[in-house]
Amino acid sequence: MSSVRSLLAAALLLPLGLQLGSAQTIVVDDKTLPADNKTVAPAAEPVSPDATNASAPLLPAETVQLTDSVLANLTDLQLSNISLFSFDNGSAVAKRSLFSGCKTYPGDLLWPSQIVWDVFNLLLGGALIKTVPFASPCYQDFHNYDAAKCAYLTNNWSNYSYMHTDDPTSINAVLFEGLTCMPPAINVGETSCTVGGYPEYAVAISNVAQIQLAVNLARNLNLRLVVKNTGHDFGAKSTGKGALSIWTHHLKSIQFYQNYRDGSYRGPAFKLGSGVQAYEIYEAANQYGVTVVGGEGQTVGVTGGYVLGGGHSPLSSLYGMAADQVLSMEVVTADGRFLTTSPTSYPDLFWALCGGGGSTYGVVTSLVVKAYPKLPVTTLTYVLQTGPSVTADQFWAALRAFFEGFIEYTDAGNYEYFRIQNLGGGQYYSDMGPWFAPNMTKAQLQALVAPLFARFAEIGIDVTPTYTEYSNFYDAWKASFPLEPWGSNAIRQASRLLPRANWQDPAKFNATFDALRSVVEDGGYVIAFNIAANPKGGYPDNAVNPAWRETVMHCIVAALWNPAGSAADAKAASDTLTFDWMQRLRDVSPGAGAYMSESDYIEPNFQQAFWGSKYAKAYQLKQKWDPLGVFYAQNAVGSEDWKMSEMIMGNLPSQNSKLCRK
Ligand SMILES: Cc1cc2nc3c(=O)[nH]c(=O)nc-3n(C[C@H](O)[C@H](O)[C@H](O)COP(=O)(O)OP(=O)(O)OC[C@H]3O[C@@H](n4cnc5c(N)ncnc54)[C@H](O)[C@@H]3O)c2cc1C
Ligand SMILES: *[C@@H]1O[C@H](CO)[C@@H](O)[C@H](O)[C@H]1NC(C)=O
Ligand SMILES: *[C@@H]1O[C@H](CO)[C@@H](O)[C@H](O)[C@H]1NC(C)=O
Ligand SMILES: *[C@@H]1O[C@H](CO)[C@@H](O)[C@H](O)[C@H]1NC(C)=O
Ligand SMILES: *[C@@H]1O[C@H](CO)[C@@H](O)[C@H](O)[C@H]1NC(C)=O
Ligand SMILES: *[C@@H]1O[C@H](CO)[C@@H](O)[C@H](O)[C@H]1NC(C)=O
Ligand SMILES: *[C@@H]1O[C@H](CO)[C@@H](O)[C@H](O)[C@H]1NC(C)=O
Ligand SMILES: *[C@@H]1O[C@H](CO)[C@@H](O)[C@H](O)[C@H]1NC(C)=O
Ligand SMILES: *[C@@H]1O[C@H](CO)[C@@H](O)[C@H](O)[C@H]1NC(C)=O
Ligand SMILES: *[C@@H]1O[C@H](CO)[C@@H](O)[C@H](O)[C@H]1NC(C)=O
Repeated sequence: MSSVRSLLAAALLLPLGLQLGSAQTIVVDDKTLPADNKTVAPAAEPVSPDATNASAPLLPAETVQLTDSVLANLTDLQLSNISLFSFDNGSAVAKRSLFSGCKTYPGDLLWPSQIVWDVFNLLLGGALIKTVPFASPCYQDFHNYDAAKCAYLTNNWSNYSYMHTDDPTSINAVLFEGLTCMPPAINVGETSCTVGGYPEYAVAISNVAQIQLAVNLARNLNLRLVVKNTGHDFGAKSTGKGALSIWTHHLKSIQFYQNYRDGSYRGPAFKLGSGVQAYEIYEAANQYGVTVVGGEGQTVGVTGGYVLGGGHSPLSSLYGMAADQVLSMEVVTADGRFLTTSPTSYPDLFWALCGGGGSTYGVVTSLVVKAYPKLPVTTLTYVLQTGPSVTADQFWAALRAFFEGFIEYTDAGNYEYFRIQNLGGGQYYSDMGPWFAPNMTKAQLQALVAPLFARFAEIGIDVTPTYTEYSNFYDAWKASFPLEPWGSNAIRQASRLLPRANWQDPAKFNATFDALRSVVEDGGYVIAFNIAANPKGGYPDNAVNPAWRETVMHCIVAALWNPAGSAADAKAASDTLTFDWMQRLRDVSPGAGAYMSESDYIEPNFQQAFWGSKYAKAYQLKQKWDPLGVFYAQNAVGSEDWKMSEMIMGNLPSQNSKLCRK
């Protein structure tokens, strides 16, 4: 088999012989070779599984690394393009002035020529994917029109997130992408499909060397770099026009340690690749007879943006945030190096990664999390609604009685996920689903809620509660959280972490409840959680929003509009959400915060709202670990130093525009 040297030489001398892309082969000396991670990626150096500060061995994908000696061998070839993959070597400061304007875009001098993309793909082992938008089979633009495929995409677009998380570039927050390629039956009136705010290229990552090559290329050419795991992010943080995307979805390793020791921790733990999704880790934990802290959504990437942004869970009232469970993380930093971070290895970076947000300090490749013993769970569901025998006043009185118990319920380790909506015509609806009581029997939960149901009866409302007992978290989670909608072009969301103090003072409680009621009366759709993240067992110091430690309610408010309606109506709904409805909630909770990962795309004073007193340190660490701004995402730490060049609806930064320094 040809050496890397001759492959590269052939690539540069015979660019027409390169046939990367769909075929994933390389023609060298008239021989067709597969361009996969067996032929080319071994240019990366195998690193011993325990050659770091990690107390768990590296995952297989992490033992394939780009190192100085690999690069030295490539540099020996005296090919100018190889320097594009160099680690940061201090020439950075000089470059900062060169890059003082915008990121590099197609048409710019520094934008890689096709040959550079081909060499990159060769070094990646054929893992480079040129973006073909997910909904393109509905159009002619990419010469892949396929009516049957389009019908499938259209029918499953909103209700089958598995389909989107398996695509290299499809994302949930399509509105901020710029709506440049959706099925026309959903984005009514759309007549063409463009790459728009999606990245130009994605790398289907299967090893660390590929991440290092991508980070180095992006840094050295000032390319916009994004990281996509599942694409769930509310704020379109896993997309960007003209970007190179690191797609971590295939990093699926799950390693279980029954007796893990690290620092003062003794107990079960998992080492997880950063592509692991909620349904996968819950299934594995169940098999090993343990429980892990993760979110409710089935397809959310638990070890990506979820945990980096804090991560709330049906178990948070009991155990805290997901980021509180992390014992160490492996990460590729902006200089291209691979590091183990933990409370004893680069502790400042570890602090920032635990709650500081995705796409900010580096690309995480795996993390080690604590696991807990198996737990029984009891769930409860019921519906409150107006009707022939229930007036709106009775409805609100019952809801108010429920709210009054928020401190008590979270102190008992419970989590309640419920929605409140205005059906129009003075009719209201609120479904409790589920009331999640970990470590409680049915009898214990019934005792906890008996006073509430007695109040409902006094108010004159008769609800039909359904209790279900489960012997473990997995069965309870699986039965309680259906797959959630995805990819709407006619919704905006925002949220507030309402503090416990608002429950402890009767006047504040009234003001809080009345503000929320007024928002629903005016058309806001509330998706809320009675949840606390201040567990009895304590929590580590990390970059998690301190507002999480004070809250008993994470309250998401959505504004929806008719997708076939006028642009003015959409803009009015969007602005009402941020500047009217959410202002009412901010007014009753001055100094509190909001959860970045489920937040307003244009949250006012986002630094304070998402990180509070932790922001100054988080920002200082951003300067230390990413001085060139290799990583960027909307509302991420340090993002105030950048701006998108165009707006949607006049005030929503469009990911389908250029990213420039302010
Ligand atoms: C249906 C649904 C249910 C949800 N349920 C919950 C819940 O129960 N609890 C909760 O706390 N949140 C929940 N969320 C919010 C969720 O935490 C965020 O959407 C989160 O950003 C998802 O992370 P991801 O990696 O899956 O998504 P992505 O959109 O792929 O990534 C999100 C962000 O993290 C970055 N990122 C991803 N992987 C890495 C990595 N390896 N290294 C560095 N940066 C990375 C991305 O660049 C992006 O900025 C839910 C969201 C949805 C849409
Ligand atoms: C570098 O090249 C030398 C000589 O061909 C080879 O022995 C060595 O294994 C290479 N090192 C790496 C890290 O590829
Ligand atoms: C890549 O190499 C080619 C061929 O040597 C050269 O023409 C081109 O300028 C190089 N590109 C960059 C960005 O260095
Ligand atoms: C330093 O990195 C730059 C790319 O940023 C590269 O062009 C240069 O060759 C490198 N210098 C050394 C000595 O490795
Ligand atoms: C996708 O849509 C098709 C109709 O085109 C439907 O038959 C199928 O059940 C859907 N698949 C999923 C997984 O929802
Ligand atoms: C999604 O909706 C389609 C119809 O539009 C249906 O055929 C399909 O089964 C649904 N899929 C899921 C997962 O609910
Ligand atoms: C190589 O790719 C295969 C299939 O994509 C994957 O299963 C394997 O883990 C990869 N190996 C490495 C070392 O990246
Ligand atoms: C281990 O941690 C120490 C202290 O933070 C650090 O100096 C060292 O570089 C780390 N080593 C590795 C291989 O990460
Ligand atoms: C669960 O309940 C048992 C007994 O009621 C108690 O001993 C244990 O500490 C509880 N676990 C947690 C995590 O609260
Ligand atoms: C709060 O509202 C309730 C019900 O409307 C009322 O009875 C109570 O007096 C109010 N308390 C305060 C302190 O305003």
